[in-house]
Amino acid sequence: MIIVCKYRVGAIALLPLFLFAIPHLAAAQAGKAEEGRELFEQTCANCHAVDGSGNTPIGRAVGAKDLRSAEAQKMTDAQIFTQIDEGNRNMPSLSNAINQARANDLKERVSVLVAYIRELGENQTGAKKP
Ligand code: HEC
Repeated sequence: MIIVCKYRVGAIALLPLFLFAIPHLAAAQAGKAEEGRELFEQTCANCHAVDGSGNTPIGRAVGAKDLRSAEAQKMTDAQIFTQIDEGNRNMPSLSNAINQARANDLKERVSVLVAYIRELGENQTGAKKP
């Protein structure tokens, strides 16, 4: 009986944690999708179109599937992962393209740091001036 009570107290104590976590998980998911949109536009939209329809000149020529369709949406996360990683029929493996896009993003982020370090230097010389 005492043990049961303990668990109950535990569950009630944890409730605010869950309530706190849910919006944060939703925000993390939205952030992921937003990041995915950028990567999609860089590496997939040539064939699949920005809206996922596959309605581009290249997409029509190679038979790129409509990613909004029930058929595509019922693929598991793992199947979608494999499709992107290995390709299938007319779709090439896109791992290299994704790495390249990431490398470009990294360059952009690092160049922001370089600019900031220059600014630190400018402020420093500014501060030393009489
Ligand atoms: C060179 C053109 C091309 C590019 C670029 C491309 N795809 Fe595809 N994609 C295709 C073709 C063609 C198919 C159909 C191949 C098949 O039958 O599996 C396809 C199929 C798919 C499918 C399976 C859909 C289904 O209903 O079976 C997914 C998921 C997919 N692509 C995601 C992506 C993602 C994500 C990217 C970017 C990382 C991407 N594709 C880039 C041409 C392309």
